[in-house]
Amino acid sequence: MKFPLVTTALSLLCTLPLTNSATFSNPLREINGSDPFLVYHDGYYYLMTTTWRNLQIIRSKTLNGLKTGESKTIYIMANPKPEGNDVWAPELHRINGTWYVYYSQDRLSWVLTGGSDSPWGEYGDNKQVHTEWGIDGTVVDIPGWGHHYVFSCQRDELQSLCIAKMVTAMSVGPISMLSQPLEEWERVEVPVNEGPAGLHHGNKTWIAYSASFCKTPDYQIATLLWDGRGDPLKASSWKKSDRPLFSSANGNYGTAHNGFFTSPDGTEIWNIYHATQNASGSCGADRQTFAQKVNWNADGSPDFGTPVRTGEVL
Ligand SMILES: *[C@@H]1O[C@H](CO)[C@@H](O)[C@H](O)[C@H]1NC(C)=O
Ligand SMILES: *[C@@H]1O[C@H](CO)[C@@H](O)[C@H](O)[C@H]1NC(C)=O
Ligand SMILES: *[C@@H]1O[C@H](CO)[C@@H](O)[C@H](O)[C@H]1NC(C)=O
Ligand SMILES: *[C@@H]1O[C@H](CO)[C@@H](O)[C@H](O)[C@H]1NC(C)=O
Repeated sequence: MKFPLVTTALSLLCTLPLTNSATFSNPLREINGSDPFLVYHDGYYYLMTTTWRNLQIIRSKTLNGLKTGESKTIYIMANPKPEGNDVWAPELHRINGTWYVYYSQDRLSWVLTGGSDSPWGEYGDNKQVHTEWGIDGTVVDIPGWGHHYVFSCQRDELQSLCIAKMVTAMSVGPISMLSQPLEEWERVEVPVNEGPAGLHHGNKTWIAYSASFCKTPDYQIATLLWDGRGDPLKASSWKKSDRPLFSSANGNYGTAHNGFFTSPDGTEIWNIYHATQNASGSCGADRQTFAQKVNWNADGSPDFGTPVRTGEVL
């Protein structure tokens, strides 16, 4: 990754190898690191994770700086339920030049309207994107077909993935089913498809998603590939990977619910995901935020590699 290089006076004086801005170690967040989503824009990395009762953006000029980056709360739940863990999976998306934050509240799909050309700008009212049960909404710009809203929905009593074309940044057209947890590796403890994230490379579009229950070590990432021709609203236009592509390893478990971000120079795509060190998996605040580069297989498909070890310097 081509990070902006900052040479400090200290690094010139010191003979010990220093961690400069060009390197970082995982995790980027040790607590409240669940469901991470990161964008790079105009010199800053902007990170959002699940903090349960509010929406916070953390920003820094370097990845390592996100560990102590400045944070800004952009939304606080008005009436949280005592038992609730009610605001989930916030994501920053830029649509036609304006930034929006999509998030789940009470298992419904919401968006904090933007109005600014900076992720650090002001946000306006919250609007519900559609009215059915829905969590983990994301925006995928499908080449030639426009912006689509992809989220985890209920179909046939299975937590599935659904898709709808966006009419505006705050509203969608008809919703259709995209994927269901029918494979054994998508059904560990509870059948689940959730946490979708769009990925574009070499004229191909994927939706990565998380399969199986979060409180198992089998919570893992798989993909749906759009063949570039068929109507993206039809499940038949997408091909599911024949196996999970990123799973627990190296002391980190349930390595999923990810997003993707592009390096400052635009040449690399990185995976931002959460992991727990609890071998039973976790759905809680102990999940940590990790970043790791995506490589590419000869057939053009993503190679997510193996989850890195905690503390490894990248
Ligand atoms: C984690 O989130 C909880 C709930 O929002 C909050 O009370 C706590 O301060 C957060 N901890 C850190 C280290 O951010
Ligand atoms: C973005 O702008 C294009 C071109 O004006 C428009 O067709 C499209 O509907 C807009 N997208 C959204 C989600 O508003
Ligand atoms: C992507 O499509 C464009 C336009 O059709 C083409 O020029 C380009 O070579 C393609 N890139 C890859 C990596 O296939
Ligand atoms: C790991 O998860 C299990 C099952 O949820 C829980 O009982 C246990 O307390 C957790 N361990 C730690 C160290 O948090």
